[in-house]
Amino acid sequence: MSSARFDPSGPLRGSLRPPSDKSISHRAALIAAMGEGKTEIEFYLDAADTRSTLAAVAALGAKVTTDRLPGTELLVVNVEGIGMRGPSAPVEIDVGNAGTLLRLLPGWLAGQERGSWTLDGDESIRRRPVDRVATPLSEMGARLTAREGHLPPLDIEGTDLHGITYEMPIASAQVKSCLIFAALLAEGETRIVEPLRSRDHTERMLEAAGASIQRDGDAVVVGPAELLEPQSPLIVPADISSAAFFIVAASLITDSDVVLTTVNVNPTRTGLLRILERMGAEIAVEAEDEIGGEPIAILRIRSAPLQATDVGGAEVPLAIDELPLVALAACFAEGTTTIRDAEELRRKESDRIETVTAALRALGGKVEPTADGMVIEGTGGLRGGTIDSHGDHRIAMLGAVAGLASTEGVEVQGMDAAAVSYPGFEADLASLLGS
Ligand code: S3P
Repeated sequence: MSSARFDPSGPLRGSLRPPSDKSISHRAALIAAMGEGKTEIEFYLDAADTRSTLAAVAALGAKVTTDRLPGTELLVVNVEGIGMRGPSAPVEIDVGNAGTLLRLLPGWLAGQERGSWTLDGDESIRRRPVDRVATPLSEMGARLTAREGHLPPLDIEGTDLHGITYEMPIASAQVKSCLIFAALLAEGETRIVEPLRSRDHTERMLEAAGASIQRDGDAVVVGPAELLEPQSPLIVPADISSAAFFIVAASLITDSDVVLTTVNVNPTRTGLLRILERMGAEIAVEAEDEIGGEPIAILRIRSAPLQATDVGGAEVPLAIDELPLVALAACFAEGTTTIRDAEELRRKESDRIETVTAALRALGGKVEPTADGMVIEGTGGLRGGTIDSHGDHRIAMLGAVAGLASTEGVEVQGMDAAAVSYPGFEADLASLLGS
């Protein structure tokens, strides 16, 4: 475990392309493997989580090669797919720290005619519930066994599936995506009803690959598919969840002016922008365009004084991974901010209600955890101190941003966790600080 110190500094100035989208990269590798031909994925996220997905599809039989785009750090991945019904070799799949892989892959494997697989991962993955996918998959006819009925390792035995109507009890793009994959292999139509809208990358990519996916009000309606023809090249935009660290840092640190390019601004991902705008942040969304079926834009963020806000309801899934940063920003804002309806934060890479509360309190923040969120009293700033990432990439990077904006600096224990989604984070931060 490595630690790193982040001293009060700033302003942040300059332009960069944040790393590629993690959610879209996972899906691109899986959907490319489900295809039968060759798919080129441009700007695939080069991070621990998405490396786990490449290793998983390779273990299932897909041919995967990786290359760098000449003169850049950007990854080009070529996948020779095995087809929708291709996985057969019984293998144990190590998902590492990747919750998205853990939840999405069972949907594809459960509907295979033969074969059995075990999904397992690191210590944090072993605490993450899989009954949320096992329960609806079982309703579709799947054969799955989880440790203690709800935790990994997860054993999957391929079998025939049938379509169902499933009312999801929680808004989760991972669960929705898992069921969409299973639905492609099932007999008949599947209707997946979302309580609240969650990210829709799977729907966009599968529709582009020729699958029958329709939205009917709150439901996603999926028909069976024998063949997928993923678009090639599949181009992955930059990740707003990684951009978020600079968006918040630039908002908090006086005189900052940062430009972030090719950022995915899919409306199912931009909750943070709406929340920060309400708080008074100065964020310009410029040069809107589209790549690979996803809206992208250039974001320009200038520092601004922030006011408290309330976050809850439909906004929560649209900003789920950025809520820790909302809590950080709230420490600097005027007034008391409430985050509610976000119990799902307890089931992320760490219990983020606990780890965010502990981190911000250790730095002098006034934060009260609640069952489903936090109440944060803005005090205009943070003193600084030492925090533990608890192996959670987003907590490690939050600590770094807190350090720059604090008065005494922050020591982050377990900074290496950032490599799960953003291996180049410290270098990119240094480049915006001109150091
Ligand atoms: C993700 C969905 C979200 C998010 C996770 C990535 C995805 O999880 O927190 O980091 O790629 O579908 P849930 O769908 O479980 O809320």
